[in-house]
Amino acid sequence: MPRIARVRKKVFVTRAIDSTPLERLRAAAAVTVWRGEMPPPAPALRSALANADAVLSMITDKIDAGVIAAAPQLRVISNLGVGVDNIDLEAATHAGIAVGHTPGVLTEATADLAFGLLMATARRIAEADRHVRAGKWRTWGPMTMLGRDVHSSTIGLIGFGAIGQAMARRATGFGMRVLYLKHSSSKRVAGAIAVGLSRLLAESDYVSIHVPLTAKTRHMIGAREFAVMKPGAILINTARGAVVDQAAMLAALKSGRLGGAGLDVTDPEPIAHRDPLLRLDNLVITPHIGSASIATRARMAAMAVENILDVFAGRVPRLCANPHVRLRPPRDAA
Ligand code: DGY
Repeated sequence: MPRIARVRKKVFVTRAIDSTPLERLRAAAAVTVWRGEMPPPAPALRSALANADAVLSMITDKIDAGVIAAAPQLRVISNLGVGVDNIDLEAATHAGIAVGHTPGVLTEATADLAFGLLMATARRIAEADRHVRAGKWRTWGPMTMLGRDVHSSTIGLIGFGAIGQAMARRATGFGMRVLYLKHSSSKRVAGAIAVGLSRLLAESDYVSIHVPLTAKTRHMIGAREFAVMKPGAILINTARGAVVDQAAMLAALKSGRLGGAGLDVTDPEPIAHRDPLLRLDNLVITPHIGSASIATRARMAAMAVENILDVFAGRVPRLCANPHVRLRPPRDAA
């Protein structure tokens, strides 16, 4: 009887991840890990995927239609993150490639950071820290570093999926009134009030963004929206930078129309070191670390590996951004 040799699956992992899930992946496939601190440049990504069955990608890897067309064996793109705006979802679906992602496991960590940015911006924590380190703390002052109250204020949530709802729970705990943008798929949450965008912007002391970046949400907060916001309101963005028109936000921060901004995301990323936003004291900024807790990143890596193993077992991944994909056959199926 002739023996059919099973071809060992090939997986490209675009950055070093937690070692436990990596070992699990190594047990199932031949794994190559990109060792750079920076993402693989486009030609390196394209050549690594030319012969790969799976890629465990990061949100910094642009996987467009061209990369997908040059990856004839690829059956799963497993993104380490909930957002998949770095991937051409339509091209992947059309090619029979599942796109896995990691929702759920990062919800609480991201909401923690969003609330931390809110607190830091409202109470000028980063600015006060700079003040002390610069040797400017000379005495207690009745008018020194006055910030805004968080308790008893109103927060408006743009996006009321898992992360928006986790933010609502934190806000409720701080005695805030919670408004959220009405949307057909929104769940009802006790105490939170569904409103339209104009009312949300007009009544909120804090506006926090929790929507994915899509053609519809790109620049959904721009000059027109800043003009109807409550004067002096604070904007928090831990979603994607391009949901906000950054030039309009800069103008609103400079004019004082916007009282402050707490940003974990910018457009582009990383923000240029000379960007005028970085000269503003009413801006608190972090380098896209919403999900960056040790436990969360380990869970995300485990989940991303599970999504690949699902496809190797012939299933659409349990956490899939294109769940109706018809998977292309594996290379050893013929
Ligand atoms: C995501 O998951 O999309 C975050 O932006 C990175 O964790």
